[in-house]
Amino acid sequence: MKIAVNQDKCSGHARCYAADAELFPLDDLGYSAVTEEEVPAGAEDRARAGAASCPERAIAAI
Ligand code: F3S
Repeated sequence: MKIAVNQDKCSGHARCYAADAELFPLDDLGYSAVTEEEVPAGAEDRARAGAASCPERAIAAI
């Protein structure tokens, strides 16, 4: 599984970070620092939960 963040949609709500700071780090301006990352084995549910937390639907967990 991968997580991918659409940087054009990210508005800095940081709910992904609140859900899982390890999988969804922020940059210095408070926007998602993730572009596309492989999800570690066993972290798939955390990735899905973080993706679902984004009100802009900027995160894909695929
Ligand atoms: Fe951005 Fe959504 Fe996270 S707006 S900071 S990807 S909750």
